[in-house]
Amino acid sequence: MGSFGTGKTTFALQFMVEGIKNNEPCIFISLEEDKESITKNAAAFGWDIAKAIDSKKLGLFKLEPSDAKTTVTRIKSDLPKFIKSFGAKRVALDSVSLLNMMFDDDTERRTNLFNLCQLLRSTGATTLLTAEVKDENPRSSRDGLAEYTADGVVLLQSDEARDGGEVQLTVRILKMRRTGHSRRVKPYSITDKGIVVHAGADVF
Ligand SMILES: Nc1ncnc2c1ncn2[C@@H]1O[C@H](COP(=O)(O)OP(=O)(O)O)[C@@H](O)[C@H]1O
Ligand SMILES: [Mg+2]
Repeated sequence: MGSFGTGKTTFALQFMVEGIKNNEPCIFISLEEDKESITKNAAAFGWDIAKAIDSKKLGLFKLEPSDAKTTVTRIKSDLPKFIKSFGAKRVALDSVSLLNMMFDDDTERRTNLFNLCQLLRSTGATTLLTAEVKDENPRSSRDGLAEYTADGVVLLQSDEARDGGEVQLTVRILKMRRTGHSRRVKPYSITDKGIVVHAGADVF
């Protein structure tokens, strides 16, 4: 999760690209940007995803938030079957915040997200959900839901620039079930090759 421009879509795309390199079929579901925009983003990082789409290593889908009811029904009924038949090992959903906006109230939102996560888990694929953060609490997702259901939470933050300097992007792991992970805050950059975490460096 992270605010706009912190690289969530890039992170999700990069997760797909790494999967494709390992010969793992991947599915990217976008509720925000359309297919053309995603393909262009990928190309700007030197990732030729068109080839992966043609060879059925990557499934790229755009769901229309305006078509809320159909979208939710389709995700629930068709997605698990599709993930299995596609043999997907990795799934990315960009963003769960937009998906959540399709529900009228909190109870419905919670029930649907929990069910969706269960369905996704049952497929055996590793799923990456991107989420916007709350303006007033940038360590919590906008709906405050996904971080509870997810096995892991990675927070991308853009810190205020000091002394007129450059804004620093930082990444930290807030949660990773069954893993003794680091809690250090690490700087990262979005480069022409995608996200690069400067694991050896510390934040000033
Ligand atoms: N090819 C690139 N090279 C360097 N930085 C890039 C490139 N493409 C995008 N960026 C940076 O990444 C940001 C967008 O990242 P994105 O993944 O779309 O963020 P989010 O999904 O969190 O809004 C851009 O605003 C820009 O700062
Ligand atoms: Mg995005």
